[in-house]
Amino acid sequence: MNTAPLPGSAPSTSHSTVPSAPATGAPSAPATGVPSAPATGVPSGPGAVSRHLTPVLSARHLAMTYGQQGTATHALDGVDLDIARADSLAVMGPSGCGKTTLLHVLAGILRPTAGTVLHDGTDLAALPDRTRTRLRRSDFGFVFQDGQLLPELTALENVILPRMLGGVTRRTATAEARGWLDRLGLQGMHERRPTQLSGGQAQRVAITRALAGSPSVVFADEPTGALDQTTGRAVLDILVETCRDSGAALVMVTHDAKVAAACRRTVTMRDGRIAEEFVRPDVQPTAEQAVAR
Ligand SMILES: Nc1ncnc2c1ncn2[C@@H]1O[C@H](COP(=O)(O)OP(=O)(O)OP(=O)(O)O)[C@@H](O)[C@H]1O
Ligand SMILES: [Mg+2]
Repeated sequence: MNTAPLPGSAPSTSHSTVPSAPATGAPSAPATGVPSAPATGVPSGPGAVSRHLTPVLSARHLAMTYGQQGTATHALDGVDLDIARADSLAVMGPSGCGKTTLLHVLAGILRPTAGTVLHDGTDLAALPDRTRTRLRRSDFGFVFQDGQLLPELTALENVILPRMLGGVTRRTATAEARGWLDRLGLQGMHERRPTQLSGGQAQRVAITRALAGSPSVVFADEPTGALDQTTGRAVLDILVETCRDSGAALVMVTHDAKVAAACRRTVTMRDGRIAEEFVRPDVQPTAEQAVAR
């Protein structure tokens, strides 16, 4: 896990919703704007877009079947996917097509019925459960639709708890978390409980929690689904920009094509398979970001 400051990124090219980097704790890279993506992209075969970048995650021939014969549901049915650091991937498709299942299999939460997921070349299924849990804590960040903050904890405590569970001291975790919270525009709100925050602010705390450990991959399942359009857009920009600036790969499930358009790539799933992939060449990670970690 890399906790060192990351190299700078390209200067802002459009509106930036991310405040400037804090003095301590969080990566020092300046925020960049998210170029607006066109409605259509360049079709391409699954995995083809990441050929020039080393994938942080590689899935091959993934299958996931729930239940037994007769009642079996084939949620994943032969998925191949690569994603590189600092790249962003939206996963779309109708309800029940396997998006959440794919996210959970990629994150090592669910063990696939068949196929492999490699994280930096290591097969997740080959790791002992404790090692896989540790990897999830240290290298993966998660953002869900409703943030899933613990209501009895403050914003700051919500962010530092998983870090402390991962073995980081309270002092280090607090310095880091304060930096990230400020960077995401939550100055003065560190001591508030989730009920004292707006939906957008709470979701920014959830993003802070996902990013505080400098993960190599951030998984987001409908991260803006519970927010109004304007707040959702602001939260989305922060999520995409901070992942890209810190060199984390972003894998985001969404039903909304406008949300997906913030990502460089979009895959559309149907019946457990990847049916289409689109690439937006104007939403690129820099090569420096992609190889820096
Ligand atoms: N634990 C489970 N046991 C049995 N079947 C399941 C389980 N989880 C999911 N499924 C089934 O697997 C299929 C894929 O589910 P999944 O949750 O991955 O879909 P999704 O694309 O995320 O849908 P949505 O957009 O509604 O969230 C569905 O048919 C669902 O009913
Ligand atoms: Mg789902």
